Amino acid sequence: MIRAAITSVGHFLPEERLTNADLEKLVDTSDEWIRARTGIEERRILRDKDKATTYMAIEASKEALEKRGMDAGELDVIIVATVTPDMFFPANACQVQAALGAPKAWGFDLSAACSGFLFGINTAACLIESGRYRSVLLVGSDKMSSITDYTDRNTCVLFGDAAAAVLLEPDTNGNGLIDSVLRTDGNNWEALCMQGGGSLNPPTHETVDRKMHYIHQDGRTVFRFAVSAFINVAAEVMQRNGLHSEDIRYFAPHQANQRIIDAAARRMGISSDRVMLNISRYGNTTAATIPLCLYDWEHELRRGDNLVLAAFGGGYTWGAAYVRWAYDGVARPPVAAKEAEAVA
Ligand code: UT7
Repeated sequence: MIRAAITSVGHFLPEERLTNADLEKLVDTSDEWIRARTGIEERRILRDKDKATTYMAIEASKEALEKRGMDAGELDVIIVATVTPDMFFPANACQVQAALGAPKAWGFDLSAACSGFLFGINTAACLIESGRYRSVLLVGSDKMSSITDYTDRNTCVLFGDAAAAVLLEPDTNGNGLIDSVLRTDGNNWEALCMQGGGSLNPPTHETVDRKMHYIHQDGRTVFRFAVSAFINVAAEVMQRNGLHSEDIRYFAPHQANQRIIDAAARRMGISSDRVMLNISRYGNTTAATIPLCLYDWEHELRRGDNLVLAAFGGGYTWGAAYVRWAYDGVARPPVAAKEAEAVA
């Protein structure tokens, strides 16, 4: 049986950090509130006006290809999961294709908000399992600062900019994406959305004045739904694959709120040392959170390790996946290890 296995991970993080102390100067908030309610301490912001989601996606992709020693010419498909494309069209995937120099690849963008990576890995797996494609590049990239209202304390403390990319290739040794449970429910779309700029509300002075080009979130409503949705799909994936908590090497959750992650881990019976958690350093980077976790923990992962991935986002969209890791991570170079220690 052919499965789609992750064979490399790359990332891109902007240099600039936006700390809770910085946000205290912008809105009526406090470091204490943000840490207690979300777990976030700082986020990265891509300040350069000439650079956006595609730039970050390209940088993350280059690293993933380089680590694998794969030439971009071998890529069959490029999928960019994002809700902050550089522009509506052409798709970000086209510019990624051109910048990497991937002449035989076709590609497209995937819009599923914070579930983008999870929906993307399933799409990529279907392409690979069909036997028609051998190498798929999947990138989660979001410049959330471009749609964040830095006068709205309800949302501006939550989001950051980042990209992370994985390569997916066929595996016949039992590793790769084993199973997933994916859901969409459009009934509550208004609780988390950006209403301006599309064909329903094209940009006008009025849409700008009404701040319709920024993220709107009814945090409490989303939180309530997210906790049970997130927990239920993760539990369903575990149950139908006969996975007990001790079988799971790592839980790789979307990083929207540490309280949601803690609640899910508790319900799954997974101790905190087996939960990938980097929200304190990057905030919510939407489509990039899960691959960024995989990047940060890659050096600890071993071939055959069982991972459960789970996400929840606007739409609503949500889901969980069971992945059996396909390669041994290598120890971080000393400089990267030191950096990781310094921020931990
Ligand atoms: O990634 C996509 C999916 N998104 C999520 O999963 C996010 C889900 N939601 C959340 O993570 C949480 O709802 C938030 C972190 C957004 C908010 O936390 P909360 O515990 O749900 O707070 P709340 O919205 O119930 O607000 C509590 C209070 C309110 O004041 P009042 O009405 O009780 O007087 C807010 O106005 O906290 C206030 N508040 C703040 N105070 C200081 C809201 N934002 C802030 C802030 N600083 N930044």
